[in-house]
Amino acid sequence: MTAHTTPQWLDAWTPEEGEARVRDLFAQAFGEATPGVWSAPGRVNLIGEHTDYNAGLCLPTALPHRTYAALRSRDDDVVRLVSAQAPGTVWEARLSEVAPGAVEGWGAYVTGVAWALSEAGHKISGFDAAVDSCVPFGAGLSSSAALEAAFAVALDAVAGLGLASSDAGRAVLVDACRRAENEIAGAPTGGLDQSASLRCGEGHALLLDFRPGLTSSESARQVPFDLASAGLTLLVVDTRAEHSHATGEYGTRRASCEEAAELLGVASLREVTDLGAAVDTLLLHDSTGVLVRRVRHVVREIERTAAFADLVGAGRVDEVGPLMVASHESLRDDYEVSCRELDLVVSAALDAGALGARMTGGGFGGSAIALVRVSDEERVAQAVADAFAAASLTPPAFLDAPPSAPAG
Ligand code: GLA
Repeated sequence: MTAHTTPQWLDAWTPEEGEARVRDLFAQAFGEATPGVWSAPGRVNLIGEHTDYNAGLCLPTALPHRTYAALRSRDDDVVRLVSAQAPGTVWEARLSEVAPGAVEGWGAYVTGVAWALSEAGHKISGFDAAVDSCVPFGAGLSSSAALEAAFAVALDAVAGLGLASSDAGRAVLVDACRRAENEIAGAPTGGLDQSASLRCGEGHALLLDFRPGLTSSESARQVPFDLASAGLTLLVVDTRAEHSHATGEYGTRRASCEEAAELLGVASLREVTDLGAAVDTLLLHDSTGVLVRRVRHVVREIERTAAFADLVGAGRVDEVGPLMVASHESLRDDYEVSCRELDLVVSAALDAGALGARMTGGGFGGSAIALVRVSDEERVAQAVADAFAAASLTPPAFLDAPPSAPAG
């Protein structure tokens, strides 16, 4: 007998709803004063996984799901934060005490941004703020980057920095958010998530190039991503399988890439031009083949990302499916960051007629994406939900993901 379950959809809030929620929360926590409100999206990565910290290419879009922050600056250096996700508690710190290793909890992502902007020479004062979000937490859809980016644009505005008004300025904010995450929150991630949240354009995918030393216009290119006129849509599936970056495996993958680059005598795996020769060299040092598999994923994933962007740019988005599947298989077999739930989404979606499907984000749980015909969307979602029920897994959640607007 086939297990049958109704797919659960996670709808994005309207901007009005998000704004009203954080204004109410702010008023309850801090009294009557009227704060400003800013917001920033989560992201899905279409392709280009575990390539950002290898100076490679990534191709994300911004989700319609956003994190909202109501903020009012203060005359001192005190930060007080409330969140609808941590009801009844006030997270409090002094900016002068924020330093690597000194801050615990979710406020590290927020005060880390203030810290990084100060480190970059900007004068940032304390603030009171209220946060709420419809980006699912822990789903690999960059809820952390959405939190950082919402505060980056908020602090940019109240400090009068003007960085958010240009893409070059936004690249500076990306850097502050990445430092916050790496140095204050202690998660060794690359810059994909923060770039997506701050620099993606509505209706577009963003081709990011992480080679060092590029100008902001060289490091990111908007690629029109019009699924609707091709009769297609992007289905996001939150597997609800637990995932975490601050711990273990993500850092191990990153360290393996750095080790391989050193053995190959290159500054980053982006510089590997002859994969066959690289494999021969690596096998001399590592007979287990682990480094070979990691490098093969990174080098080919960068090639797939370029090919995907070319197809989209040429109006051939209906042909990207095989690249998505190849990316997933490479992440599963060579990079070893998939898991049972992610593999199940991909196989169930493909069996139900998806053109392509793959895990998205760091892996070890989190979310997968499927490119489907609009007319097939409900059917594919149903097939995935049924497959999870048949395997006695926690029901997944589904998100509709038209490419949406950046932080603002
Ligand atoms: C996480 C990290 C990103 C990136 C992806 C994998 O989302 O935060 O920097 O490395 O994993 O592509």
